Amino acid sequence: MRQEKERYTFNATEFNEKMMKGQFKKIYPVIARQILERTGITSGRCIDLGGGPGMLAVELAKASALKVTVCDVTFECIALAKENSLEHGVEERVSAVQGAAEKLPFDDNSIDLVVSRGSIFFWEDQQQGLAEVFRVLRPSGWAYIGGGFGTAELLQEILAEKADDLKWDRERQERLAKNPPGHFEAMLLKLGIDGIVQRGEAGMWIIFKKSTTLL
Ligand SMILES: C[S@@+](CC[C@H](N)C(=O)[O-])C[C@H]1O[C@@H](n2cnc3c(N)ncnc32)[C@H](O)[C@@H]1O
Repeated sequence: MRQEKERYTFNATEFNEKMMKGQFKKIYPVIARQILERTGITSGRCIDLGGGPGMLAVELAKASALKVTVCDVTFECIALAKENSLEHGVEERVSAVQGAAEKLPFDDNSIDLVVSRGSIFFWEDQQQGLAEVFRVLRPSGWAYIGGGFGTAELLQEILAEKADDLKWDRERQERLAKNPPGHFEAMLLKLGIDGIVQRGEAGMWIIFKKSTTLL
């Protein structure tokens, strides 16, 4: 099923400077820790899907032994992710490739962990993207896909800092309204994926572990 396409205008350089190195910087180590604790995956191959300039990938690499590949449709993000991995001294374990969620450039059953923050809302075909995530996960591999700010406190801090940017919060609310948990639960059901959609004050995450027997 194809979703209505949201027009996505994204200035990767501005996002990198203003958000990732500025207002959002504090959320990535928190989210990385939450992902590692929830999935228990701390080594092997990880994809940060729609990883943008790669800050979640960098923090995951710092907090674990994972080898992380940022995969993003935007070429500019790939260059920025490589720059950021160098800047943070994790270039040996954080790489970046261009690719779309709907057609992942990875082999079947090859990845231990797929993470994705703030990207699925913009995928042209979310269901196809989730099917692709399931395809590339190895048996017992985990997916942690959605969006959020780590904790309710961090979200409140960011909302206060962005109080003059009403458009940002309005668009965020609109995305949440268009993508309620039931919307993703129905997709998981259609795909035969046994997963949960966790909606809390700090975000919404689709979490699943691939069954140990190959389908
Ligand atoms: C709001 S940014 C989030 C970046 C990063 N994950 C973060 O949390 O800082 C959304 C990202 O998703 C990427 N994106 C959008 N549609 C995509 C798709 N179909 N496949 C892969 N990446 C996509 C965009 O290029 C952009 O880098």
